[in-house]
Amino acid sequence: MISRWEALKLALRHRPLLSQLVEFRHNPGLAWKGSLNESELELLKRAVDQTAGLPGPIIEIGTLFGFTTALLASWVADGRKVITVDNFSWNPWGLVPEAHQALTRRVLAPFLRSGRVEIAAQGSAEFFAAYAGPPPSLVFIDGDHSYAAVHRDIAAAKQVGAAVIGGHDYAPTIPGVVRAVEEHFPNATVRRDTAWMWGLAEGAAV
Ligand SMILES: C[S@@+](CC[C@H](N)C(=O)[O-])C[C@H]1O[C@@H](n2cnc3c(N)ncnc32)[C@H](O)[C@@H]1O
Repeated sequence: MISRWEALKLALRHRPLLSQLVEFRHNPGLAWKGSLNESELELLKRAVDQTAGLPGPIIEIGTLFGFTTALLASWVADGRKVITVDNFSWNPWGLVPEAHQALTRRVLAPFLRSGRVEIAAQGSAEFFAAYAGPPPSLVFIDGDHSYAAVHRDIAAAKQVGAAVIGGHDYAPTIPGVVRAVEEHFPNATVRRDTAWMWGLAEGAAV
């Protein structure tokens, strides 16, 4: 049992975490935090539909809790697999990496059991360095949003021959993403809110 004084000191020291907890308990919007909105999901679905028939997997960088992964898996009408890559380094609920990964595996359990989804619990750089599969039909980048990481993830997606490459958080408030995308694909992406996509077929602009 700790004293009230010690409890107060602990509360002060962990104030950001406590605020997060209070926000979490009261704000239903947190279910969407860090994830794609409906309009962005529509663009992603378009990419999934347009790459139907390509044999390579869909690769998602940044699983978070698997919300977008589950949608991707439910949209895939052919035999394609979804490989989702996450090093479980960040989540908006303040979970430690082990709890984060365990929760994500529970969310994705039906797809993990059927084999449609595979989780690669590692950083995207390590994942791409070891990737030996067929050229992906789609790579969607929503992991580390720093310029260096996004630039590297796009380069790796090109290197493994992805037919369509896209990502999330192309926004002035996240300049590293904008810079990396524009360096790789100057003025050549289709966008919906902060989602971007390169390689969509002619006439797919939204
Ligand atoms: C914004 S969230 C992804 C949101 C998810 N795509 C969705 O729509 O729900 C970013 C995720 O990327 C992961 N992440 C951060 N850096 C990473 C890296 N270098 N490699 C793989 N995953 C990373 C974090 O752990 C976090 O789960």
